[in-house]
Amino acid sequence: MLTETGGNRKKLALFALAALVGWMSDAFADASAAQTTEPPLPYLAGNAGRHALFVDGAPFLILGAQCHNSSAWPSMLPKVWPAIDFLHANTLEIPVYWEQFEPEPAKFDTTVVDTLLKQARLHKVRLVLLWFATWKNGSSHYMPLWMKSQPDKFPRIIGRNGSRVDSPSPLAPAALEADARAFTALMRHLKSADPQHTVIMVQVENEPGSWGSVRDFSPQAEKLFNAPVPPDLLKAMGPNAPSAGNWPEVFGTNADEFFHAWHVARFIGQVAAAGKAVYPLPMYVNAALRDPLTPGPADSYESGGATDNVLWIWKAAAPAIDLLAPDIYQNDSARYHKVLELYGRPDNALFVPETRGNGPAARLCFAALGRGAIGWSPFGLDFTAYASEPIGAPRLTEDSLAPVAQNYKMLEPIMREVARLNFQGSVQAVAEEPDESLQTLDFGNWKALVSYGAAPRSRTGAPAGNSQPVGRALVARTAENQFWVTGLYCRVDFQPASGAHRDFLRVDEVAVAQSSKSGDSAQNDYNFLRIWNGDETDWGLNFSSAPQTLRVVLGTY
Ligand code: DGJ
Repeated sequence: MLTETGGNRKKLALFALAALVGWMSDAFADASAAQTTEPPLPYLAGNAGRHALFVDGAPFLILGAQCHNSSAWPSMLPKVWPAIDFLHANTLEIPVYWEQFEPEPAKFDTTVVDTLLKQARLHKVRLVLLWFATWKNGSSHYMPLWMKSQPDKFPRIIGRNGSRVDSPSPLAPAALEADARAFTALMRHLKSADPQHTVIMVQVENEPGSWGSVRDFSPQAEKLFNAPVPPDLLKAMGPNAPSAGNWPEVFGTNADEFFHAWHVARFIGQVAAAGKAVYPLPMYVNAALRDPLTPGPADSYESGGATDNVLWIWKAAAPAIDLLAPDIYQNDSARYHKVLELYGRPDNALFVPETRGNGPAARLCFAALGRGAIGWSPFGLDFTAYASEPIGAPRLTEDSLAPVAQNYKMLEPIMREVARLNFQGSVQAVAEEPDESLQTLDFGNWKALVSYGAAPRSRTGAPAGNSQPVGRALVARTAENQFWVTGLYCRVDFQPASGAHRDFLRVDEVAVAQSSKSGDSAQNDYNFLRIWNGDETDWGLNFSSAPQTLRVVLGTY
């Protein structure tokens, strides 16, 4: 899978050379990443437990934003793009509505998708398309009218008490067939209409599972529930799995939830596989989470979705799905970090497709990057009239988007580098926590010290922390004594492990070059702005509210 190790060595060598001869701005040029007229298909790569999303043949970091649910209509887009442009997002996550895409059975309307492709290219933004189809937040409200008018053919599940629940049945062959047919039509269209890969990934359904019933209790479901557990799932349980048994026998009190997870995942896995057969873009499923620290019973959260306890079931049931992604609306950072830990696994690339981006929450982008995320994307970032709660602002203005915009402005010049270096394990990134005003990042021969609320012109005294936890920092090593450093509301300094004194040999501030916008180029192009020295380096590297990106060469004396 790994295709770029040789490229890394070449780039690192070039970086060292450039430091010596005077920071040539095109030092990272890599012939292997050169653009061709037909760039290679985006794909997910894994190596030694780390992950990268390759776009145009090189790792790409999704600096994302998701619009509101009803913002993907052409008439709304003029209120979406200004927010995306203001944010410096390189990727827009935007729905494709089944009800719009297939207004009559097997008649597909690609006009809205084409509008999205065209406008995204104009704005130099990539797309992650969200297939709002059989499941949207556990319901089936995006099924086309011609399906909604046939509730017996496209049924909802039945609850324990025998009444219908507002959630589609995963055991309905007609719905599976219809969804797979429509999704295949979408992927087929993308294959022909998007040779430049404006669309880099597809989300299949949206927060699937069921609220209001742990599973389907229809007669058909009851029959399957009391039938043997499928061998594929027993196999996924590992060597201690029983050789046979029905769901209650094998899974006891977890049987209801596991049964539902298996069937929802099987359904969606088949939809994804059908789409991939015509156009194999990376595909993922997002999850409404259960409490990662104190999970209650399955009927207290969305049952059947890819919650942390059933990731293994989803992996076994839906191999066409490349990754399972957490929608993190948890407010406290202990839970936020726990979710990142639960979903960032050797067999699952970490991607945060929905989260809060308001105020201090924006710093948690760096917590995700610190765990090797391939992307991070807050929900509800557009200027349509509806401002939803997750962004945390009663009315969306540029001020309320600013904390996310700051992140993306800092990361934009080095987006490709951060993705590449994270893939090889050379990035450390942190977000301030209220009880942690000093964080230490260990790079072996160097420690990076990130402090919050340090006195401006002093190297002594304990840092006080910011009045709100808004600090964030990223340090990425490019060579033995060379780093990319960026941050907000913090100071970053370095300490050599040898016990000698740290010397800033050279600190360059860079800005994104136009050619690097949205990762149009498979390498980073950035412009040299100035050398930092004097007050800017004497006390460490002080980052304020201004997004600044530095490349740092260290020495000792
Ligand atoms: C999570 C869903 O996935 C989104 O589509 C949206 O409904 C948000 N919740 C709203 O908070």
